[in-house]
Amino acid sequence: MGECDRHAFSEPTFEVIDTVVYMPTDLLGRTYQTFPAPAHLKEHGPASVIAMCNQKGGVGKTTSAINIAGALSQYGRRVLVVDFDPQGAATAGLGINGNTAQKTIYDALFQTHMDIHEAVVHTRFPHLDVIPANIDLSAAEIQLVTEMGRERILSTVLQPLVPEYDAIIIDCQPSLGLLTVNALTAASGVIIPVATEFFALRGVALLMDSIEKVRSRINASLQVYGVLPTMYTRTIHSEEVLQRIYEKFGDQVFHTVISRSIKLPDASVAAAPITFFAPEHKCAKEYREATREIIARGIVA
Ligand SMILES: Nc1ncnc2c1ncn2[C@@H]1O[C@H](COP(=O)(O)OP(=O)(O)OP(=O)(O)O)[C@@H](O)[C@H]1O
Ligand SMILES: [Mg+2]
Repeated sequence: MGECDRHAFSEPTFEVIDTVVYMPTDLLGRTYQTFPAPAHLKEHGPASVIAMCNQKGGVGKTTSAINIAGALSQYGRRVLVVDFDPQGAATAGLGINGNTAQKTIYDALFQTHMDIHEAVVHTRFPHLDVIPANIDLSAAEIQLVTEMGRERILSTVLQPLVPEYDAIIIDCQPSLGLLTVNALTAASGVIIPVATEFFALRGVALLMDSIEKVRSRINASLQVYGVLPTMYTRTIHSEEVLQRIYEKFGDQVFHTVISRSIKLPDASVAAAPITFFAPEHKCAKEYREATREIIARGIVA
């Protein structure tokens, strides 16, 4: 296991930063109960396994995986991010070099007797680990085709880690290929980030179809945990798209909406979740709120 300096970041008290408004109205006009600061966990695990999934590219999957993982860890949850995209953006975004990692998720998929713990890297953020990926993973899609039980390999590989974490977040690549099917098979549920932009819902029917197929054929307990609107701007256009997302998904749409801000790419460059990089920034507050909503909805303990 690689290890960075875990004490580089302290743990701030968010109740001070996050002003609590009781019974607020969300951007869709829905009134809801404020999500309280979550209770401390006395025991950890088993993990909820969340696939961050949308075959549309650039909608905020990786950003949401990193920042929800970051906020969960700051709320005392033990979190593992599984980078399941050959681009390795989640790995890099958490400050880990996927090219020098001893083992990656690719090795874990194909080395039958490997101990999965060998692939787990501690980030410099407390309680936040990652299984890195690099470009090697791009070969996996083809290699998996001839493997026995090809849809279930990731699920099998991650099993030993489930008791050790409160949340395992799989950052999927933008496709509905065999890697994504593996993620959906390993997951207890899916969070679908959707950008509040033109074409946001294009291809969503195909994604829902894939989720439904995996549920009916391989993983009966797979749920849609929620739809997270991202890259929201205060424009009529964003509002219209948000409304359309709501018409399609109803109450599966999270109350919390993530705004568009350059601070998020900035945090990626700094290789840190925004909740560490700029804890008082609007988007940090939004990702913390999304995380509290995830806990309040019972998605993560
Ligand atoms: N709320 C936001 N505001 C502004 N920029 C954002 C926001 N969320 C993500 N971005 C930026 O948009 C780009 C795409 O985001 P991200 O990588 O998270 O999407 P993705 O769905 O994982 O993409 P891919 O499908 O390529 O894996 C990145 O440069 C990221 O920094
Ligand atoms: Mg990504």
